[in-house]
Amino acid sequence: MDLNDAYAVKTPQDSRKLYAEWAATYDETFVKANAYIYPRTIAEHFDRHIPTTQIDTVVDIGCGTGVVGRHLSTLRPQMVIDGFDISPEMLTQASGLKRPDGSLVYRDLIEVDLTQALPDRVYDSMISAGTFTHGHLGPKTLVSLIDRVRIGGWLVIGINAVHFSSQGFAATLASATTSKTISEPTFTDVQIYGPTSPHFGDLARIATFQRTA
Ligand SMILES: C[S@@+](CC[C@H](N)C(=O)[O-])C[C@H]1O[C@@H](n2cnc3c(N)ncnc32)[C@H](O)[C@@H]1O
Repeated sequence: MDLNDAYAVKTPQDSRKLYAEWAATYDETFVKANAYIYPRTIAEHFDRHIPTTQIDTVVDIGCGTGVVGRHLSTLRPQMVIDGFDISPEMLTQASGLKRPDGSLVYRDLIEVDLTQALPDRVYDSMISAGTFTHGHLGPKTLVSLIDRVRIGGWLVIGINAVHFSSQGFAATLASATTSKTISEPTFTDVQIYGPTSPHFGDLARIATFQRTA
């Protein structure tokens, strides 16, 4: 399994199959082998930009094996973190993660195809890395997820930079801003992989905004 397999995904069924096979080795063969720094970067971005008061809960969209939650829980140790993902095998990996104090990184891990249905939960905030990308989740799902955050809550959403304009994320966020559903996003481009990776140079665009209505 490698990045080519991930970029070959076209449907939720493809994702379910790919990540079932990849879950047990994902952290070793993808995160470590490719110097995949994006989860740490987005957790640090969240910690730097999102208020600490009244932001007690967060949902990690496409949490996978839990790399984002692991980093976020060290930066915000009091935060309640839930994860949504289509792959039960990836969620099993995330379910074993512990915080430095021995408690679990994730409170609830929910298996769901986010293109079909959304869990009936509302959070103070949302975070996502590596899931709004090639053949995974698109702008329609991003819009449907906004009301899983309470009004006044924050969303920190990483989107593959190549797909940001070509797959309609830019237009969708502009439209949600015009309709005053969300505040005007700020955009921050970040490296997905570190300098030692053959994929160094691939960028993600982090959109940071509030739900306003
Ligand atoms: C590249 S992994 C990223 C995992 C993690 N966020 C990280 O950065 O390591 C993409 C994740 O999106 C999940 N995913 C893909 N399609 C999905 C869907 N339709 N609904 C929910 N999760 C989905 C996959 O199962 C996988 O865990």
